[in-house]
Amino acid sequence: MLLEQNLDYININNTSNNDILNFILCYPVSNNELFNQRLQELKNLGIEYLELSGPTILFGNHILGKGTRGLVVKAFSKNQAYALKIRRLDSPRHNLSKEAKIQSFVNSLGIGPKIVDSSKNFIIMELIQGKLLSQLYDMESLNVDIIRLTIKSLMDQCYRLDINGVDHGELSDLRKHVIINHRVNIIDFDSASYNRKTSNLTSCIQYLFIGGPNSEFLRKLFEIDLDKILLLLRKYKFNKDYLTYVHLLKLLNMN
Ligand SMILES: Nc1ncnc2c1ncn2[C@@H]1O[C@H](COP(=O)(O)OP(=O)(O)O)[C@@H](O)[C@H]1O
Ligand SMILES: [Mg+2]
Repeated sequence: MLLEQNLDYININNTSNNDILNFILCYPVSNNELFNQRLQELKNLGIEYLELSGPTILFGNHILGKGTRGLVVKAFSKNQAYALKIRRLDSPRHNLSKEAKIQSFVNSLGIGPKIVDSSKNFIIMELIQGKLLSQLYDMESLNVDIIRLTIKSLMDQCYRLDINGVDHGELSDLRKHVIINHRVNIIDFDSASYNRKTSNLTSCIQYLFIGGPNSEFLRKLFEIDLDKILLLLRKYKFNKDYLTYVHLLKLLNMN
């Protein structure tokens, strides 16, 4: 089993780390009653350890990430590492069931971290550790092929979401919603919906090539004619057929 002496691990079944655990499970306030409920909920899901590691620091504790509705912490069940999403106490959502349901559906399309299990306040999912989009452009030797393949994969996933009626809802800011490991992963389906007009691909293209922080760089890199893109995007909004999509890929020099 894991190194229990190592302070970077919290054993869920050993109450001596209660303070940090209470802080993480009930962020941003500490609440003993809810803590005990959540601890039991976590045990029922089979989580045994949390590992305090990752790029985000929360009052001295490392975690994988912090959003406005959830904390994400590395967690172990039967020696397997996962990402554990924890519903913040101040989250506007009453539970994580809608997010888990939509994420399971997009998993069936080959999109998003794979859901393993979920409950009212937790989602256990595939752990994705990798680079953010902007880090690709900062690599020492600029690799155009890798950037092209990454963007192409991202666009394919957005198109798949579009034609399957799921709107992610936050792809106008890709900075925090894409993690690249051996795959390109769209994360965080908290704001996703089946009931909105989908705008995944248009938001993605808008961020990458029109208005996002590196859009000018990418336009130059792929020699893109912005006017033609804007015209075709207008058509795509009303007609998401495959040929229009392929035409967009061609204008963006992605094929
Ligand atoms: N499956 C995952 N593997 C690793 N880190 C993740 C995973 N999902 C989310 N994160 C990290 O946690 C952060 C917050 O998660 P997110 O789902 O965006 O929460 P919120 O719904 O509060 O916005 C993300 O920005 C990312 O850094
Ligand atoms: Mg988020």
